[in-house]
Amino acid sequence: MDTLIKLPGFVDVHVHLREPGATQKEDFSTGTKAAIAGGYTQVLDMPNNNPPTLDKAALDNKIKLATGKIWSDLGFNFGASENSTKYFDQVKKDVFGLKVYMNSTTGNLVITERKKLDLIFRSWQGPLPIMVHAENTLGIAISLAQKYKKKLHVCHMVADQIEMITKAKKSGLQITCEVCPHHLFLTRDDQKSLGTLAMMKPPLLTKAEQDKLWANINKIDMISTDHAHHTLEEKKDKRDVKFGVPGLETTLPLMLNAVFDGKLSLAKLINMLSTKARETFMLPEQPNTYVLVDLTKVYKIKDKKLFTKCNWTPFENMEGRGEIKKVVLRGKTVFSNGSFNTSPSGKIIKPRV
Ligand code: DOR
Ligand code: ZN
Ligand code: ZN
Repeated sequence: MDTLIKLPGFVDVHVHLREPGATQKEDFSTGTKAAIAGGYTQVLDMPNNNPPTLDKAALDNKIKLATGKIWSDLGFNFGASENSTKYFDQVKKDVFGLKVYMNSTTGNLVITERKKLDLIFRSWQGPLPIMVHAENTLGIAISLAQKYKKKLHVCHMVADQIEMITKAKKSGLQITCEVCPHHLFLTRDDQKSLGTLAMMKPPLLTKAEQDKLWANINKIDMISTDHAHHTLEEKKDKRDVKFGVPGLETTLPLMLNAVFDGKLSLAKLINMLSTKARETFMLPEQPNTYVLVDLTKVYKIKDKKLFTKCNWTPFENMEGRGEIKKVVLRGKTVFSNGSFNTSPSGKIIKPRV
């Protein structure tokens, strides 16, 4: 491997940028800065805000708030509720996926009633996937996607879902899955030192479960960070536990270390961080867009300057490899040697449908 490599801009189809409603945690500007600093040139924002992205007005408001302030390109996923089905037709050309929360997590978008889920799966039209937060509910999601012949994307998959996903793939269902760095690099043992900082949904895995994820890494389609920031104060409050961790700026160094340890190939990593998501979510092309990485740099994550608003990471002190020297977006250097020199030139993106 060369020491300086040129990689395509990464894509993260699963980030929570918290604007509107919780900009003390993150906002469109800081979140997309973190994206670029991590090598991501396209990110898709999730709908569990306050107010949630459940109608056209909420989507338009997000677009308005983000315009002119974003450093990476930014698209949106729409939220599912019984009532939001009314807007599916209006928004289907403007959003990338429909997010269905089938277990409870941050926000109050959880849907458990079979009748409502049935209506949602039946109503979603178009070629873009239904993205599910499904922990013990994945079986229901798969059977509904099969029943209504919809594309399904499994968010933050965990080890005991591998067989179910593989079986559904073999049955002909168009199903993709993503894994998160916190499930690949932290285990339940880290909860002892991290305390509530390690709380997220789905929760951290045992070492044996994590080993199973790595043993099956070539069956997993994408890496998503589920970048879900809360302030350090909020995270440390044991009376009101907040689920979620940041991830945009730490994924590449952790994953490049894994490549050096022989856990996956660099080609597979590029596919997981960029190519596969671009195809699956019909993301627009980004001509002359790339990331230059110096592979010789090895460092402790704590020494990395973070651009995300809440300046903490659950990966503190872990070893990372690869320093981003430069991020070029449509021919313009937006980030080089640790700083942003230009004005924000990210675009709001719509799918190629
Ligand atoms: O840990 C999580 N945090 N999991 C989720 O599903 C949502 C996210 C958030 O928005 O905080
Ligand atoms: Zn989730
Ligand atoms: Zn999430």
